[in-house]
Amino acid sequence: MLISDKINAAFNAQIGHELGNSNQYVAIAVYFDAESLKGLAKIFYKQAEEERGHAMKFLEFLIDAGGKVEIPAIPAVQNAFASAEAAAQLAFDAEIRTTNQINDLVTLAIAEKNYIAQNFLQWFVNEQLEEVSSAQTNLDVIKKAGSNLLTVEAYMAHANK
Ligand code: FEO
Repeated sequence: MLISDKINAAFNAQIGHELGNSNQYVAIAVYFDAESLKGLAKIFYKQAEEERGHAMKFLEFLIDAGGKVEIPAIPAVQNAFASAEAAAQLAFDAEIRTTNQINDLVTLAIAEKNYIAQNFLQWFVNEQLEEVSSAQTNLDVIKKAGSNLLTVEAYMAHANK
């Protein structure tokens, strides 16, 4: 086995966090979909798929490294939102939390001098820059639009061409 029990357990926990993010983004997408904001819904359905992909990356790494995959219980997600801004804020907060989780995993891998795990985690370090940046953009654009969310739809259609 190329990783310690401690890294194995931490990576299993991260699988849970990524799947939790995926479920949360489906719930946010559904909220926008029900409001006929199809552009925003599409962004979050896609993001939900990406989060599942992140979980799968950890899972595949554990298998390759001779670890043991144990999918943890996934907490319930928030299904109701006071506003589009509240939903976008929740997503932004989730990405900041995820960045901190990834940083903690890197800290652990460095402490254990596990270069294979460190190298694997670099992809997530880079990914979090993109994830936080796009969550910030979504939040900013929604805030600027105020109550006219159709301008957000138009912006997203243009920006995501
Ligand atoms: Fe898996 Fe959005 O971080």
